[in-house]
Amino acid sequence: MEKLFSLDERLLKCASLVPDGSRLVDVGTDHAYLPVWLLKNGRIPFAVASDINKKPLESGRAVAEKYHAENIEFRLGSGLETISDKDNIDCAVIAGMGGEVIAQIIKASELAEKLELVLQPMTKSDELIRFLCENRYEITEQSCVFCRGKFYTVIKASCAGEKIDFDECFPYTGKLDLTDEASRNFLQNQIKNLKNKSKGDETLLPLIAKLERKL
Ligand SMILES: C[S@@+](CC[C@H](N)C(=O)[O-])C[C@H]1O[C@@H](n2cnc3c(N)ncnc32)[C@H](O)[C@@H]1O
Repeated sequence: MEKLFSLDERLLKCASLVPDGSRLVDVGTDHAYLPVWLLKNGRIPFAVASDINKKPLESGRAVAEKYHAENIEFRLGSGLETISDKDNIDCAVIAGMGGEVIAQIIKASELAEKLELVLQPMTKSDELIRFLCENRYEITEQSCVFCRGKFYTVIKASCAGEKIDFDECFPYTGKLDLTDEASRNFLQNQIKNLKNKSKGDETLLPLIAKLERKL
């Protein structure tokens, strides 16, 4: 039998935030590395691997077949619309998409409120964090990883059911531990982006100064 592949640091961090024993949906699964790896390592008993496009779903199916992954179902569709109550899903990973796309997926689904969410935005993490706070989702864990030359953040969140108070820095700092080097680098990149934006919008300068004091 094929030796199981390793996950890269980004997907490994996502995997580390999936609670053991979860019935998982991996939204935008593409190659299905994450659910196949979790199943083959005995971390989860069942997964739905879903994608809005046929081709990624086919490559995911091929990976599951190659590594003889069982208890994985492939479903075509957008976001969480591929999941029904009888799947008894308790955790969703939504990784490798823009923060605004992830926010749209969560917004479009009532089911999201009942799930542990593991979110990995490739861009616009500040928009995603603002959306989460404004929609009563609490960030329970957040960290950053360096992978293939870039820093990524991974967020774990669940619906708190009540209003979340947050200040203007929070979309950028979230729950990051700023004594950690990857998190500091991630924040530095965000400050750099804000500085570029501030060339056309000087109102951003006080926010930039506040964020710099956190480093
Ligand atoms: C860059 S891949 C990420 C693959 C994997 N999740 C990862 O993080 O490595 C993004 C995938 O999301 C899928 N996708 C984009 N929008 C989606 C949506 N609204 N619902 C489901 N899948 C979506 C794309 O077809 C693509 O396969």
